[in-house]
Amino acid sequence: MDAKKIREDFPVLQREISGKPIVYFDNACMTLKPRQVIQAMNEYYENYSACVGRSIHKLGNEATEKYENARKTIAKFIGAKKEKEVIFTRNTTEGINLLANSLNLQKGDIVLASDREHNSNLIPWQILGKKKGIERRIVKSKPDETFDIEGFKNMMSKDVKVVSIIHSSNLDGYTLPIKEIVDIAKDNKALVILDAAQSVPHKEVNVRKLGVDFLAFSGHKMLGPTGTGVLYGRYDLLENLNPFMVGGDTVERTTYDSFRLLPPPEKFEAGLQNYASMIGLAEAVRYLDRVGRENIEKHEKELSRFITGEMQGMDGLKIIGVQDPELRGGIISFEIDGIEYHDVAIMLDDQANVMVRSGQHCVHSWFNARNIPGSVRASLYLYNTKEDAETFIEALKTITKLR
Ligand code: ALA
Repeated sequence: MDAKKIREDFPVLQREISGKPIVYFDNACMTLKPRQVIQAMNEYYENYSACVGRSIHKLGNEATEKYENARKTIAKFIGAKKEKEVIFTRNTTEGINLLANSLNLQKGDIVLASDREHNSNLIPWQILGKKKGIERRIVKSKPDETFDIEGFKNMMSKDVKVVSIIHSSNLDGYTLPIKEIVDIAKDNKALVILDAAQSVPHKEVNVRKLGVDFLAFSGHKMLGPTGTGVLYGRYDLLENLNPFMVGGDTVERTTYDSFRLLPPPEKFEAGLQNYASMIGLAEAVRYLDRVGRENIEKHEKELSRFITGEMQGMDGLKIIGVQDPELRGGIISFEIDGIEYHDVAIMLDDQANVMVRSGQHCVHSWFNARNIPGSVRASLYLYNTKEDAETFIEALKTITKLR
């Protein structure tokens, strides 16, 4: 894998700001887009920008074919049995909200989660708790911040109906032992929802090999357009779920006092959709497939190992969360004693165009439980180079000396 060659496909990376190149380390939030994705979207707008699944003229047919092909490409990418198991959403958050509102959980049912869930896998269940008496319980991490599989096993019971859990954490990059988690959940007849927003873009994820029932991820974290997401669901389960939003294109027939829903995925995709972007997302998938996700994972780990090694020698700098870079993939979250995390982010940007995210990364609950005010987070992707990492380390050395 040649990261330098890959960079040539990304218009943003051709920019210089204040005479310096950009070191883009905010990929857990948003990735940059290659020109192939931008072109695929433009082609929709320039050549066949018609309605999908409704109009039967030539442009409508072309749009429908491209859109449904996009669904096929994405289904194959995650190992789904059929494309009808792929529901298009706006993001991971929408996928999880859809499930929380459609699963028909009852008072006393338990939803199990880790203690490092993103707000999007926390608040929908909290609201359901208030509305319907669902109980959300958390499996506390071990002292080294890894997942406590024994603790999880002990918390399983017949009342646990859903395990809704993160695959790779956006706060420190740690990947949970999901195969073991699924096996335990299945032994106890619980459904498994996987928040794969930070794993699908970076590593091989196959829904059938993992055995998950539902899986949600976002397109904008994997070279795709903003406002794109996917919810995968096992077809037999989707058939029995009620949609959480209805309207145009979700129904086969209506009368003044009745309606008949279409089968999945249509019954979950109400109203006109983001066709151009989903076609763009399929192009992003093709791009990632050409590079190979196993190569991306290896590349990110190599850079992360290098950065971690350099950081370990820096006075006052502390990596937060799981420490071992082999368990963390391409995310490094840290704090610098005596300098506020937002200030560190601004200094990195000012000094060297190093763009990171700072704060609590939508996982406020984890930070608050540990009394950690926030962190600086560097998150890597396929276009980052060893030179990027060196620029980052040099800037950090200057900043830590200011303490
Ligand atoms: N979940 C996104 C992040 O971690 C927004 O930055």
